Amino acid sequence: MAGSESRSLTCQAGVRIRSVGQAQCRTGVRVILALDCRTWTLPDSCAMQIKPFRIEQYFGKYEFTAKYLLSSSDAESRTIQELLDLEPGSHDRFLKHWCGYTESPGAPVLREVVSAMYRGIPPRDVLVTAATEEGIFVLYHALLSPDDHVIVETPCYESALEVARSTGAQISEWRRCFENGWAHDLAALEKLIQPNTKIIYINTPHNPTGLLMSANVFQQVMKLASARGIIVFCDEVYRELEHDPATRLPAACEIYERAVSLGSMSKTYGLPGLRLGWLASKDAGILDRCLEFKYYTSICSSAPSEFLSALALRHREVLVQRNREIVLRNLPLLASFLRQRSNLFEWVKPNASPIGFVRFKPQCDVLSFCEEAVNKAGVLLLPGTVYDQPRHIRFGYGRKNMPEALAQFGAYLDAHS
Ligand SMILES: Cc1ncc(COP(=O)(O)O)c(C=O)c1O
Repeated sequence: MAGSESRSLTCQAGVRIRSVGQAQCRTGVRVILALDCRTWTLPDSCAMQIKPFRIEQYFGKYEFTAKYLLSSSDAESRTIQELLDLEPGSHDRFLKHWCGYTESPGAPVLREVVSAMYRGIPPRDVLVTAATEEGIFVLYHALLSPDDHVIVETPCYESALEVARSTGAQISEWRRCFENGWAHDLAALEKLIQPNTKIIYINTPHNPTGLLMSANVFQQVMKLASARGIIVFCDEVYRELEHDPATRLPAACEIYERAVSLGSMSKTYGLPGLRLGWLASKDAGILDRCLEFKYYTSICSSAPSEFLSALALRHREVLVQRNREIVLRNLPLLASFLRQRSNLFEWVKPNASPIGFVRFKPQCDVLSFCEEAVNKAGVLLLPGTVYDQPRHIRFGYGRKNMPEALAQFGAYLDAHS
């Protein structure tokens, strides 16, 4: 056995587990439990089954070598110096900030500033996570078992679907499509609900379309869920980057007791390097179970990230204003670019977020098209294949140098027409 580790703990059924070991075998890692008097080897099928994360794999391959990023979902970032400049005295305070463990639900000062972003959400209703991604992982794994059923709005950010599936729960997709303007079909959602439906995942503003759910659909989803006690897991990482702030929806956690809002430093505020997110919910039971799970993932978030996140959120109007200005400057350029090439592209113009999902009209392989664009022109686009949407390409318009990236892509297209 390679690399075994011994622990002693009591599992839920009250059986004492003497030791837990991991052995390397031909098909991967096998877990061995030594119970009080017997040793059990769990079959390989007990290892968490999860598909490759195609969106992140694609970015992992090109994001740090491509010259022009034309598909990023995070708005323009800033340096630590620029963040510290937002608040007098913070430079010194940051250098003196203690780097011990922080409180597992999140540093009190950060939970307070996050709670102030919502109506009727006190700090105890906020659980800070080490990146939004941890929030997705923790919530699904803390709440789901193979007896449960989950409905996921698709296309979606892949982990919203695949992490849910990895718990063994049964998954149904609430599908949207370009052909009907990415509309939400409420009747279809209602038909998907089963007696054991535990969670409905929605995402607004939406990745990849950059569209907001309409207020009516949003209310109806809450109504369908609340009539059955179903948890609504609402991914709101692009909230506050509505192109018209008047169209902003309430946060799900504000209007439904069993909703969980997922928030992030990464997108609207442009600070993905802080790797910090949060879950907000009025349902203490849900957050307690997520916290229990978080003890097994990160225990607590990074102290410097919590400090910088709290500081950034205290000044978030500055961050949001700058990033909305970039988005509103770039979006018309992209819209006119696509209009001029309407033989190649069509889309439903986004109304929120820094991304949009564009239909590529030629019947060709978008993965090869995007790979050629990055390899030959240095322009990174995201092929819709990573969303199981093989006729689409995701564009991003939240970066300052987007006009330059677009010009480069245009020149490449013209040269290859
Ligand atoms: C809709 C959505 N949810 C969650 C995440 C994960 O965010 P983070 O990078 O903050 O973990 C992303 C990142 O692209 C996303 O688009």
